[in-house]
Amino acid sequence: MKAIDIRNKYLKFFENHGHKVIPSSPLIPENDPSVLFTTAGMQPLVPYLLGEKHPEGKRLTDYQKCLRTNDIDEVGDNRHLTYFEMLGNWSLGDYFKEESIQMSYEFLTKELGIPSERISVTCFAGDEDCPRDEITASCWEKAGIPKERIYFYGKEDNWWIAGEEGPCGPDTEMFYDTGKPKCSENCEPSCDCGKYVEIWNNVFMEYYKKDGKYTKLEQRNVDTGLGLERMAMLLQGKQTPFDTELFSPVMEKLQSLAKNDDIASRRIVAEHLRASMMIICDGGRPSNLDRGYILRRLIRRMTRHLNKLQIDLNELPNLIDLNIDTLHEMYPELESHRQEIKDVIVTEKDKFMKTLNNGEREFNKVINKLKNQGINKIDGKTIFNLYETYGFPPEVTKDLATENGFEADLSKFDELFKEHQEKSRMGSDQKFKGGLAEQNEKTIAYHTATHLLNAALKKVIGENSHQRGSNITTERMRFDFNCDHKLTPEEKQKVEDLVNEWIKEDLPVTVETMKKEDALKSGAECMFIEKYPDEVTVYTIGDVSKELCGGPHVKHTGELGHFKIVKEEASSQGVRRIKAILE
Ligand code: ALA
Repeated sequence: MKAIDIRNKYLKFFENHGHKVIPSSPLIPENDPSVLFTTAGMQPLVPYLLGEKHPEGKRLTDYQKCLRTNDIDEVGDNRHLTYFEMLGNWSLGDYFKEESIQMSYEFLTKELGIPSERISVTCFAGDEDCPRDEITASCWEKAGIPKERIYFYGKEDNWWIAGEEGPCGPDTEMFYDTGKPKCSENCEPSCDCGKYVEIWNNVFMEYYKKDGKYTKLEQRNVDTGLGLERMAMLLQGKQTPFDTELFSPVMEKLQSLAKNDDIASRRIVAEHLRASMMIICDGGRPSNLDRGYILRRLIRRMTRHLNKLQIDLNELPNLIDLNIDTLHEMYPELESHRQEIKDVIVTEKDKFMKTLNNGEREFNKVINKLKNQGINKIDGKTIFNLYETYGFPPEVTKDLATENGFEADLSKFDELFKEHQEKSRMGSDQKFKGGLAEQNEKTIAYHTATHLLNAALKKVIGENSHQRGSNITTERMRFDFNCDHKLTPEEKQKVEDLVNEWIKEDLPVTVETMKKEDALKSGAECMFIEKYPDEVTVYTIGDVSKELCGGPHVKHTGELGHFKIVKEEASSQGVRRIKAILE
């Protein structure tokens, strides 16, 4: 069965079971700078999972374009993808475990024709936050899965949440038995030997996690996710998603063009090309920041592997055409962005080639020297020099090092990179001080006031208010945050009063460095989790605020003066904007 047929069957099946089909949201989240890309079908639905009424009702279904970047370096093996499509169905306070499981079982066995014996399922084993999910297990038994194919695991396997905070709950996962022999006596669905492949995840979202604590949501939801590429692979009896019709035309074309064929390189090119096209189609552009940097990395890595395959880079526009022809039935939007996609990719490739040519020569010199010395590790300083002098990206150094049987000390590189950033920041502060000392103090004060404002908004309009953006000049601060209504005069007054109270209390502002994980556990606020390195600085203001932040800040809030809101207005849907001054 082709991927598009699986998608259509899915949507039709759930439509027939009372669900409204809603469109995929863009890959780049709308009005949500807190995440780089849409990573799951539930993400655009969070407000509705938390209780807001969805205009289409309580039963929804869709296909969602998703991108996950944690495993970007694994692409090239036989299963990892960055871009993928997730099929999902949701109950927003409507059906729960029994109906959800019945529908999943019916879809898998009747619609997709998977023999029941091939299906195993897992359920939550229970802990101090939530009891063992016997109900789910008994629903599976009722549906037709015998006890011996029902497994129980803890939070690490059978609990789902996107990130550290948000709606979450125990889940039940369905596994497809490929028929391979067990790798050992203890081989179970949780084993990653390849015998069992996870095909669908149903999350019973009845909790909200914040600051490590769980509270019950007002409504009980079901959130499900089925990875389309993987399902197509299994139903077609293929070993990898690259053998399905989604990738095979490009994979075959690459093979015919390659003068130095290598399957991992072909997979990387095919995968990264598809992902880049989807990002560009939804408005992404390469840059050195956040989303743009992910896209840049994808295009760079793809270019490198085209080189490795010894494929003429002038083939890129043809490869893009072929890819759009392959995918346009699934994503008609690609068609109208055809030229734009080519322009962006080719321009970025050209830029990268210049950098690459210079850097690679230097890299080879380094490698030869090390080889002569019998050393097989490239130290952080060398990686840093390649980066600083030739703009040679560290991830490319790492890739090339691996190909040459070398290790690359990227953690030392990260350290040096941070030092370098700190130095250049101090350098520009110095410059700033020459003549503009006062203004510099002013922006630092506004920076601290921003943290106080963020904390005050949480107190006044609720813990769910988060920073959505900020901009500081020497004249004023501007702060965007999520909030579903115009602030009332009383709310504005309260926010202003709180900030001024904290200023009067002359609270100490302290900074500490800690592991990102620990910082998040300690409840520190953070806008772009993925943006931060493993070691982060956390600024704490008395007991009112704790945020991941690069600084700088004042030492005591007493230095801020009087805080005044001068404007409160809409910024975009669900996001309000405050402009404020320190007098
Ligand atoms: N949100 C769940 C997942 O991504 C369904 O697995």
